[in-house]
Amino acid sequence: MNKKFYIKTWGCQMNEYDSELIEKQLTTKKYKITKNPEKADILILNTCSIREKAQEKVFHQLGRWKKIKKKKPNTIIAVGGCVATQEGKKIYKRANYINIVFGTQTLHKLSKMIEMAHYSNNLIIDISFNTFKKFKIKKETKIIKKKISSFVSIMEGCNKYCSFCIVPFTRGKEISRPVNHILKEIKQLSENGVREINLLGQNVNSYLGIGRYNKMCKFSELLQMVAEINGIDRIRFTTSNPFQFTDDIINVYKTTKKIVNFLHLPIQSGSNRILKKMKRLHTIQEYKEIVNKLINIRKNIQISSDFIVGFPGETEQDFLETIKIIEEIKFDMSFSFIYSKRPGTPASKMKDLTSIQEKKERLYFLQKKINEQTLFWSKKMLNKKKTILVEKESENKIFNLKGKTENNRNVFFKGEKKLIGNFTKVKITSFSTHNLYGYTV
Ligand code: SAH
Ligand code: F3S
Repeated sequence: MNKKFYIKTWGCQMNEYDSELIEKQLTTKKYKITKNPEKADILILNTCSIREKAQEKVFHQLGRWKKIKKKKPNTIIAVGGCVATQEGKKIYKRANYINIVFGTQTLHKLSKMIEMAHYSNNLIIDISFNTFKKFKIKKETKIIKKKISSFVSIMEGCNKYCSFCIVPFTRGKEISRPVNHILKEIKQLSENGVREINLLGQNVNSYLGIGRYNKMCKFSELLQMVAEINGIDRIRFTTSNPFQFTDDIINVYKTTKKIVNFLHLPIQSGSNRILKKMKRLHTIQEYKEIVNKLINIRKNIQISSDFIVGFPGETEQDFLETIKIIEEIKFDMSFSFIYSKRPGTPASKMKDLTSIQEKKERLYFLQKKINEQTLFWSKKMLNKKKTILVEKESENKIFNLKGKTENNRNVFFKGEKKLIGNFTKVKITSFSTHNLYGYTV
């Protein structure tokens, strides 16, 4: 009988993409996926270490799986992703019942590691950084899940070393996939019904991959090539750092209609002083210049962001500057976090005198502001006809279908089931903070 595996994924879209690669790899090797951890022979945890809480969650989860292993001692537990890369053997020291530790760039070896674990009582560990082989999994397998929107990784790693961020340590140096691999993967997805592509990377605007005739290809050029693929009608990308969000990328918004009218461009803070301490390599003025250039091309473009509240040394004045920029840019739905000290990062050594209570209050205030802006954009959409990519049936009895607008808002609406997988026009008739409602026109 085929052995069953269960995967739990935490963290960013890159982790979700990696888990898809794991699933493809293992199903090709005749393992079967299960949604029930109790029924699995192999339990896989794909972890995230961006903030401290995400890391603590790992040990809580492993504790729960320990109970499953007690009942079924042959169960193999594998821990991968960013915590695994960062902590390596230390995870085993705290949870010595696990069998495998694999890294963000060694997940293509997982099936071999699982085979070894069947015969070995020792920890099997490989968290090396030296290869880009994991993407081969895509080429070797034809198993494609029916999807309408899909992530495609174009580069991995980060060389920017923002002072708060663990990513350069867990994902390694920037490496870009060759153009032909990316285009081939997208064409294959398009032939299988995918209509929207989300290009992934820790810092996509640093993309520099080998293109035609061995010439290096920039991100703006790649965007144009992706736009030429038939069947792909919406292109998103995430994440891009405002630093090096250059004019050639901005100009693609002019030439390429398929790029959505929405950009996630994390600013983190509204204070130049804090940006400098964060080593973000750009100023508020430069950020505003990018946004203004984009608005000149696309009048109604919506911008979303990530914010860090309570970075070491953030004063009330700095915080108020963040609030000011939120009002000025009118950010759409955004993410915000209280600063979390990450081991080994320069910011972890900075003096931090702000109390956690004060940080929580700042976060609450900031999130309230962002919700106000989100409502502002929702209101703007009211009574307008919006293009929706229809994803699936919804659980709502009245608004039977669910889809997404260009700015990533969920829309629940009345329509025929055959629309699933296609674009359709929906008139927006009502909204809540994060969702919109309407009917097809
Ligand atoms: N490459 C992206 C960021 C990727 S990390 C960029 O350049 O903006 C995703 C988000 O997690 C960041 O934008 C930041 O807001 C948040 N984050 C990263 N490290 C953090 C930390 N130590 N504490 C709190 N939030 C953090
Ligand atoms: Fe992190 Fe800064 Fe890179 S936030 S992912 S080090 S651009």
